[in-house]
Amino acid sequence: MKRGIWLFGSMVVALLLVTVSMAATGKIDGKAEFERLCSGCHPAGGNTINPAKTLMKMTREANGVKSVKDIVKKIRKPGPGMKQYDRKELPDAQAKAIAEYVIKTFK
Ligand code: HEC
Repeated sequence: MKRGIWLFGSMVVALLLVTVSMAATGKIDGKAEFERLCSGCHPAGGNTINPAKTLMKMTREANGVKSVKDIVKKIRKPGPGMKQYDRKELPDAQAKAIAEYVIKTFK
């Protein structure tokens, strides 16, 4: 019985350590976040609602959305048809990771 509790305790500690170290490295998976939040309307960098506004470099830049900053701005204050994400729903670090993924991926 005592051993059981000890085992359980060390498992909890191990789990806590993993969680803390993951938070400490602060690695956010931009791809996973993009797929979770954006790919519904932007599958493969397209745009199912407004086909003139895809995430592909040429189209995006022609529409004035060029940098990570521009994309984060878009996420915070989108045009018609796009869902808005505020800081509470999508913190800056995550929004940035998504924007970096978009620039890196959709050429
Ligand atoms: C509900 C559908 C929807 C979702 C979800 C959505 N978007 Fe959009 N997105 C749109 C529409 C519609 C537009 C065109 C809006 C406009 O006129 O500015 C757009 C435009 C954009 C643009 C500008 C593209 C261009 O060529 O001008 C970017 C960048 C963008 N979205 C990024 C994102 C990111 C990143 C996410 C996830 C955090 C996301 N979107 C989620 C519908 C969506």
